[in-house]
Amino acid sequence: MKLGAEGVSVKYDAEDASHALRNVTFSIQDGERVALLGANGAGKSTLLLTLVGVVHTESGNVTLDDTVTTKETLSDLRSKVGMAFQNPDNQLFMPSLYEDVAFGPRNYGLPEPEIASRANAVLARLGISHLKERMTHRLSGGEKRLAALAGILVMEPSVLLMDEPTSFLDGRSRRRLIEILSDLPQAMLIATHDIDLASKLCDRTILLQEGQIRADGATKTILSDAALIEACGL
Ligand SMILES: Nc1ncnc2c1ncn2[C@@H]1O[C@H](COP(=O)(O)OP(=O)(O)OP(=O)(O)O)[C@@H](O)[C@H]1O
Ligand SMILES: [Mg+2]
Repeated sequence: MKLGAEGVSVKYDAEDASHALRNVTFSIQDGERVALLGANGAGKSTLLLTLVGVVHTESGNVTLDDTVTTKETLSDLRSKVGMAFQNPDNQLFMPSLYEDVAFGPRNYGLPEPEIASRANAVLARLGISHLKERMTHRLSGGEKRLAALAGILVMEPSVLLMDEPTSFLDGRSRRRLIEILSDLPQAMLIATHDIDLASKLCDRTILLQEGQIRADGATKTILSDAALIEACGL
């Protein structure tokens, strides 16, 4: 599995003077965990949304295993690439946590016992089994974050895209999430302002500045370049 962008440019509005993304090219392979860093407005969320076809490119392509993604192959892409949005409220829509986690596999036509065993395993893994019957709109911010992640992991995607996964989390939940992520086999691209998460979890970092890739390399090298970090507004 290889997910990539080739010369991707994005403009939200044709009249906008500047691009949200400009000529972005990179790919991530199996087993890679990549941090996506950049100041507010640098284009991190836009890039993740573009990779799952929610935001459209002005030019350039999203590729999966070197095949250019089209409208026809988008559903295939979305079954392989799971995305956790910046705001979990955009992701949770079923009345109870359990129903929400079961929704994806059910929609996929899996048998009910398989759905239950997968959903229960994911809830236990994320430490939120006790919230199973809770109304999703009555979860706390951090619980919503974990609930949204459960809804993605239960689909067993090959690649995980996560937008600020540690925001709203308290210290313990945050450490637990980092541990959980470090045990998962999936390739990951994680947009974050959490430098500690980036250095603990991701060997590689992509640094965005005003919609362009400013650096792509070893996290250690990039984070130790004080001038670069300062120039990128971090
Ligand atoms: N729906 C939208 N319509 C118009 N412009 C948008 C929209 N979403 C984002 N933008 C603009 O695109 C640029 C990139 O935004 P994006 O949300 O990708 O940044 P980000 O790196 O995720 O920032 P943050 O760290 O604040 O989450 C910004 O200039 C932003 O104002
Ligand atoms: Mg963002």
